[in-house]
Amino acid sequence: MSPQPITELTIRRPDDWHLHLRDGGMLKGVIGDTSRHFARAIIMPNLVPPVVTTADATAYRERIMAALPKGDRFEPLMTLYLTEGTNPDDVEAGHASGLIRAVKLYPAGATTNSHGGVRNFENAMPVLERMARIGLPLCVHGEVTTPEVDIFDREAVFIETVLDPLRARLPELKVTMEHVTTKDGIDYIKASKGNLAGSITTHHLIINRNAILVGGIRPHYYCLPVAKRELHRLALRAAATSGDARFFLGTDSAPHVDPLKECACGCAGIYTSINTMSCLAHVFEQENALDRLEAFTSLNGPAWYGLPVNDETITLRKQADAVTFPEKIETEAGTVTVFDPMFPLHWQVQT
Ligand code: NCD
Ligand code: ZN
Repeated sequence: MSPQPITELTIRRPDDWHLHLRDGGMLKGVIGDTSRHFARAIIMPNLVPPVVTTADATAYRERIMAALPKGDRFEPLMTLYLTEGTNPDDVEAGHASGLIRAVKLYPAGATTNSHGGVRNFENAMPVLERMARIGLPLCVHGEVTTPEVDIFDREAVFIETVLDPLRARLPELKVTMEHVTTKDGIDYIKASKGNLAGSITTHHLIINRNAILVGGIRPHYYCLPVAKRELHRLALRAAATSGDARFFLGTDSAPHVDPLKECACGCAGIYTSINTMSCLAHVFEQENALDRLEAFTSLNGPAWYGLPVNDETITLRKQADAVTFPEKIETEAGTVTVFDPMFPLHWQVQT
């Protein structure tokens, strides 16, 4: 007799270890989709202008708290955008005060609003050395931007030419390789000994590059790092559902208004905050790993960032009828298209 299929699952309240909340009308329009299910999130600093100082992060945190729907409890975990001019003392003070939880490295030009990122790593060494000393993690967007490197190879080349030399030089530095998209990235993390972990997005567990390009160009599946071929998606799935403590959820939910996605030069970013937990339950069920969903969404991340796990829980229930999500959400900044996993979702977070 086969065991009864699981139709209800209670897990500790999840956290999102990589999230774009933006600012102003967009922030107001999207934050509730995160705070409904998530207790905390690592907040990306790539605003225009970016969040580069502790003072910037303090002000941004206040705007986030002001935008939070009444009654929601949510803790934004603030980050600083690393530039060649970042002051190590400011970083250390921000960390010591409990405000700054990580520093984000964008190689210059790698993605949305990253032109102020790092070009010459030598200039960032003093701050990286300080971070290694005080135990403050570096979150990396792991792609090289050299025009000669094919966009699908940028992560693998980054590991070889930037990340591995950096980690050899500063072995005490804690590095989060964010939104890992390749088997190369997964294998590199699995082979590492300490001080390296990786976040994985919801959408990279679901789509491969065909979603963007087959049957017409589909801008709402375009993000950075760009989705890769199927073998990479399978490696991400295996890692995320393995229970390995080095892998955890970072949705990289990155809202852009439709006119900026649906045009001749569309922005990178996929909006998944609203249906992430339903998508993940589906993926973990397909992989026979529902018992490991909690590790991925709620246990491994806090352990890596040195934070307690959440006390509260959420319950997911599988229903016979498909769960419906809006195709688009309206914000004061404009309309944002919601990630479509291209299969019906049946897992619903109970409220
Ligand atoms: C992000 C954004 O829009 O800010 N876009 C994306 O495709 N993920 C930036 C990023 O994390 O690369
Ligand atoms: Zn991102």
